Amino acid sequence: MRVHDGKLRPCGKAVRGIHELHLEQNDAPLAEALNAQRINRLAHFDVPAHKGGRMNPELPAYFGKLCMELDVNSMKPLDNLGHPVGVIRDAQALAAECFGADNAFFMVNGTTSAVQTMIWTATGRGDKIILPRNVHRSAINALVVNGAVPVYINPGTDKKLGIPLGMSVADVRKAIAEHPDAKAILVNNPTYYGICSNLVEIVKLAHEAGMLVLADEAHGTHFYFHDDLPVPAMAAGADMAAASIHKTGGSLTQSSILLAKKSVNPDYVRQVITLTQSTSASYLLLSSLDIARRNLYFKGRSMYQKTMEFADYARDEINCLGGYLAFGPELVDGDAAFAFDRTKLSVHTRDIGLAGIEVYDHLRDDYGIQIEFGDIGNLLAILSAGDRMMDVERLISALAEIKRLHERSAAGLFDHEYIDPSIAMAPQEAFYAKKRRVPMRESTGLIAGEFVMSYPPGIPIVAPGERITPDVLEHILFAKEKGCFMTGPEDMALDFIQVVE
Ligand SMILES: Cc1ncc(COP(=O)(O)O)c(C=O)c1O
Repeated sequence: MRVHDGKLRPCGKAVRGIHELHLEQNDAPLAEALNAQRINRLAHFDVPAHKGGRMNPELPAYFGKLCMELDVNSMKPLDNLGHPVGVIRDAQALAAECFGADNAFFMVNGTTSAVQTMIWTATGRGDKIILPRNVHRSAINALVVNGAVPVYINPGTDKKLGIPLGMSVADVRKAIAEHPDAKAILVNNPTYYGICSNLVEIVKLAHEAGMLVLADEAHGTHFYFHDDLPVPAMAAGADMAAASIHKTGGSLTQSSILLAKKSVNPDYVRQVITLTQSTSASYLLLSSLDIARRNLYFKGRSMYQKTMEFADYARDEINCLGGYLAFGPELVDGDAAFAFDRTKLSVHTRDIGLAGIEVYDHLRDDYGIQIEFGDIGNLLAILSAGDRMMDVERLISALAEIKRLHERSAAGLFDHEYIDPSIAMAPQEAFYAKKRRVPMRESTGLIAGEFVMSYPPGIPIVAPGERITPDVLEHILFAKEKGCFMTGPEDMALDFIQVVE
């Protein structure tokens, strides 16, 4: 591997291993220390001033007394997330071993902060980074902030489903050949819909060219715990990975883990993290990571076996309803759809004449069922070992009834989720450029100065620096009309958009 500049020179350094620290995977050092703190009857003259909830009895009445007592700030026996030398170091060392990484960093601002740390570690202003365009907004936001420049790879689209796939190896090889000075390649492992690129081969190509590989594993935490799932980033040899333990790994919302190999200097990563991380990290979030890691280590395999069985069952039943297409491993083509995450229950809805978001709305409003998201032509339900078969059956029956009551012609429905961007300038340049506000409907041909996306999935339809083509405008208007939750622009009604002057 090419030696990077000082920041990234492989330093061969990992935090002290768990054996040296006399730890076992059935320990939860951080959670245990937090609990000991609660029961040691300490008199608190520090923040938080709610003092275990005594300041405002409404809080313990709402959250429970235990939750309030555990909501403390950093102090000697509880270590400090920005400079971990005690129980947080130990909990992170256990997480590193559990995920096959050399170093692990607990994050309290979601996987957004883990994705941003990866990009800010690997690149600086003007540096190139190769990535598919169907990335989450956190990745492009990172470029807005640090001024790195994207080299996008078109992920390709599945013609029937309209969804973006992974990156083909040939496209990655071409991008590396055309941009040998790029510092890193970012890969979705997997996409929101569960599709993976050939990560092992991409790592090989990238490392031969001296580039780091960064994996967005916001939807791939579970890959580490079952051999029938796609290969996880650390096993594939990627240098860093952002794993959303809070999404499919069972920790509290907003907690996440950044994983890294020795090829990346952990002390530099820690410095990058502290550029934006709170100095008052929540111990509720941190200890939930410790507890979730222990659970994943011992029970991960059986939990995800159960999840795959739920998903396989639901796919078969939904496909028997007719009209819907609950897609799965048959999409795998050995290239841009190299592998599929069988735990994902993704359903194509366009053939019953309904947008995914319309089915989402019916499920929520008429049947009391909350799914992850619905977009133009598909919906996604997240399953886990926390589900009950009766709820899976309820989802299947509701889908059957929605089809019976609302099926119509598919004419006029938009047929693709992904639009290849027309890039006019770098994201940072456009975001900070002089801008003017124009009516959305009159924006065709102009350069966007802000993001527009449906959330979830949070993949920008247009990002700063991209030209608003007729296809982009039509997509925005269609998604808005269908009731997708649209975010990004200053004008929250989306009647106007900021464009570069
Ligand atoms: C692919 C991807 N990356 C990153 C993120 C950011 O994760 P978080 O919401 O934990 O900040 C998301 C969130 O949905 C995502 O879908």
